[in-house]
Amino acid sequence: MTTTLNRAIWNTDLELEIFNKIIQKHAPNLPKQRLHETKAPTTPEEIEKFYRFRVAGAAHDLFIVQVCAKVIGEIPDPDLQLFLSQQIGDDGAHAINTRRRAQEIYGQDPIDDIQKQVEKHWEYMGDLPVRNWQGFLAFELHYEMHIVASLFVNGITSTISDPQSAEFSKTRIKPEEARHRVGVVNWWQRKYEQVSPAKKADLAAQVLEIDEEAQRRRNPYLKQHWQLTHEAIGTDISDLPKIYDAWRREVLAYFLEIPVSQLPPLVSVND
Ligand SMILES: [Fe+2]
Ligand SMILES: [Fe+2]
Repeated sequence: MTTTLNRAIWNTDLELEIFNKIIQKHAPNLPKQRLHETKAPTTPEEIEKFYRFRVAGAAHDLFIVQVCAKVIGEIPDPDLQLFLSQQIGDDGAHAINTRRRAQEIYGQDPIDDIQKQVEKHWEYMGDLPVRNWQGFLAFELHYEMHIVASLFVNGITSTISDPQSAEFSKTRIKPEEARHRVGVVNWWQRKYEQVSPAKKADLAAQVLEIDEEAQRRRNPYLKQHWQLTHEAIGTDISDLPKIYDAWRREVLAYFLEIPVSQLPPLVSVND
């Protein structure tokens, strides 16, 4: 238990510290913070791409809502249920805001396009998010934790944004997503701290196995999504695979209480 007591608390300061360490190693040329202001999409081509990017964002949030809604009655853990009820409300509100902004910018309600993209998430993830609690944990890791470094890179390098969406992101999405990540950490740690060292090793192996499966399932989507992100908002994606892989190792090392160097080789987003 001493390892647990000595561990840093997961929060946005720790995330930034880990991100900066990764950047120093894997993308030293990436600026530390944004160098240029963003501009709103204006040409029809920019608006079309921005619309597709926002549809993808809303689909990510709506997929989370659909998965959590299925799971909330299945896992009899009242602490988890309260956290999930909050996550469903927050991520649902993020999707609603994105839907509204996409409609205002593009002139068409995107709900059918959003649902089509949600169906793609269900197709490539299969039953993994709702298979068992380990699958649901891997889902939360992939949809809330593993994407954080790529979001930091967006925040530093993007060139196009919608000012109203950016304001909503700053005041609502960012703090709420930080709370979701802490919620996932807390749920897992409640489980992990209660078991014997032998059982811990067993749980760590189970989580790694299913997190790897989720990574293999998500790889084609991530590649496509990053390309869209690059084309729609100008994000520099050249070092993203290395940054993503390194960030995911750090997250898993933290969760499993295994030093990064002692984790086995993991599936890469490039595999
Ligand atoms: Fe969200
Ligand atoms: Fe979230």
